[in-house]
Amino acid sequence: MYNKRILTIAHRGAAGDAPENTLAAFRLGLEQGCDAIELDVHLSKDGEIVVCHDHTINRTSDRSGAICELTVDELKQADAGSWFHERYEGEQIPLLEEVFELVPPDVMINIEIKDSRGRKLEPVLIELMKRNNRIENVVVSSFDHKSLVFLKLLEEEVKLGLLYDCNPVRHSLMAATAEVPIYSLHPNFKRLGNEDVRDVIEQGLQVYPYTINDEDLMANAINYGVSGIITDYPGRLKRLLDQI
Ligand code: G3P
Ligand code: CA
Repeated sequence: MYNKRILTIAHRGAAGDAPENTLAAFRLGLEQGCDAIELDVHLSKDGEIVVCHDHTINRTSDRSGAICELTVDELKQADAGSWFHERYEGEQIPLLEEVFELVPPDVMINIEIKDSRGRKLEPVLIELMKRNNRIENVVVSSFDHKSLVFLKLLEEEVKLGLLYDCNPVRHSLMAATAEVPIYSLHPNFKRLGNEDVRDVIEQGLQVYPYTINDEDLMANAINYGVSGIITDYPGRLKRLLDQI
């Protein structure tokens, strides 16, 4: 058994084995023993927070259209499972609140803001997190770093995850942490170096690289000393961690 606890973070749920960002994918991630669930959010036409990766539902459902132009009633009519496999027929696009109901409070949720619709999403998100008692074990991440700064203004206790896809990692981190305290750095693993991880950990931050599905690359990241790994195959990572 490994000594340091490295979080297994199920990317869009167990997206390698179930339709991404559905309750089925989150359930499977939980069954595979994940420590955290990563998911993506958008705002619907009627102002609800909806879980989906793309800004349209074209790729991951049998319907089409931009999420910001569809109401929850319309979104709920879409089949978000059949495109992946017929056994998931009828799976719906979930609301974030439904995920809060499904996921036990001791399992961390990493909410990635994909499009804040001109800063309309953040107040709705904070209100929803508070109402569901989900400030504590949730990290909100985004490539839109100004969105993270706004979240911190709205709620001081919210944990922020800086998503980052460029080099050098440390420069971005310095710029972001100068504005607001960051809880974790979420770099593209392809751009991650051993020294970067050491620097970030020394600053007291968590490091959660995305998206690592290959066992050898998982092992590399573990050797670098990351705090967790975002993967489409949480079961695979759990088995690897158990062998170490
Ligand atoms: O949160 C990490 C990762 O999910 C970012 O990329 O495109 O899979 O949302 P993407
Ligand atoms: Ca994501």
